[in-house]
Amino acid sequence: NNPPWPAYRGYHEFSFAHETMGKRLPTILGKAVDDVIKSLNEQSDEEKILDLAKCIDRMHVLMDDLHKNAKLRPIIDDGEGDIPLWNKEIARFFRGKDFMNAPWLFAEAYKYRRLHECFSISKYWKDYDVFFRQKCDTFSRSGTAVFELSTRFAEPFAYEEGANEEQKLKARELIFHELTQVCLWGNATDLSLLINMTEDDIKNLQSTGGEHLAATEKNILGNHLDRLWKLVSNMKGGRIDFVLDNAGFELYCDCVYADWLIQSGIATSIHFHGKRFAWFVSDVTRKDWDWLLNSMLYGSLFPQASDADMQSLKQMGLRWKEYERKGQWIYEQHPFWCTGYTFWSISQEAPDLFLHLADSDLVIFKGDLNHRKLTYDCQAPSDTPFDMAIGPLASEDGAPPVASLRTIKSDVVVGVPGDVSQKLDNEEPGWRISGKYAVVLLSDGLPG
Ligand code: F6P
Ligand code: MG
Repeated sequence: NNPPWPAYRGYHEFSFAHETMGKRLPTILGKAVDDVIKSLNEQSDEEKILDLAKCIDRMHVLMDDLHKNAKLRPIIDDGEGDIPLWNKEIARFFRGKDFMNAPWLFAEAYKYRRLHECFSISKYWKDYDVFFRQKCDTFSRSGTAVFELSTRFAEPFAYEEGANEEQKLKARELIFHELTQVCLWGNATDLSLLINMTEDDIKNLQSTGGEHLAATEKNILGNHLDRLWKLVSNMKGGRIDFVLDNAGFELYCDCVYADWLIQSGIATSIHFHGKRFAWFVSDVTRKDWDWLLNSMLYGSLFPQASDADMQSLKQMGLRWKEYERKGQWIYEQHPFWCTGYTFWSISQEAPDLFLHLADSDLVIFKGDLNHRKLTYDCQAPSDTPFDMAIGPLASEDGAPPVASLRTIKSDVVVGVPGDVSQKLDNEEPGWRISGKYAVVLLSDGLPG
């Protein structure tokens, strides 16, 4: 059940794997230590201080392991549901593998799991999220784009007065195109790549205006938006799943999109799949989810905002909470999402999750990491069709329709014509990690 192309590994100097494993991960870990020290300095209880100091010690061991390229050891049993999955894989395939020669995807995920272990085996700090401060801070600096969307979409969606059926359909199509792109480009604000972003950097990345979106559509190198609309426009009262990526602004964009999918009658239920603990810096956890909705209602994150802006945010937040209360929006967190497996193994390693997704009318995978997992993070030629690149998740009985909305931030690229990728390889080195380009790819699945 493997693709015919080799997976990227940390020792591949030609790939972003090398820089990530060798430089980016130690930098990210260093910043995480700084965050914990900040928390330590805010404590007064001796027992808690000593307990947290031990977490910091374990982070230093991890840092050391990264620097000396240690072998991957089993994860300590901290009672989490993902332990058997991790340790089976380490025992079966990766005994003797180190950070650099294990597949990049696995080794990178392993680092985040080890980081979680630093806290999960403590007494008082089991759920500590070393990235929480960063995630909240970036959202509170995203006011311009946040209000651009809330002032437009707070009022319930309505057609122009007197619009006939044809005009209504056209209006729906236009909004769908726009919001799918808002949801797609929301993925550009990724904290693992953008350490030390300025206010202006954030603004540039998050521009959501119509003109800006039209200009950036040409950067969608593999573009199944029309096919996606065909699928979605035939849905009535369906179920759509989002396999989430990043918290804060991206999650906010996902929710604006999901809100419209409900209001338009296309979906009656939306399942959001998040992570059980801090993951790849900015990924959504249950706490981030609650934080976003509650901040919209009760927070004072944007002191410069006008009353009207704040009111629009509140109005939207109230509606979203109501969806949650009525069970139309459901937040879930299966342990499988925080493992090093690619999605080629989902039906084998997490059959319950596969069967659950099989009931969906459309599963939207957000972001770069999910795309790497869908495509096995291997050296597939860029013109590999998406269906082929995602293997069993397209061809197994029961496979649901799968869409990937991803800004390109790592090596693997599929669903893009060979001459397009070749030209960019020649003329714009770095295009595979800049996040300037994107793909919107769809597989119809194989309804069982
Ligand atoms: O470290 C590289 C990476 O795993 C890439 O997938 C991407 O650059 C980033 O981390 C995560 O991006 P995203 O949040 O879009 O999955
Ligand atoms: Mg992420």
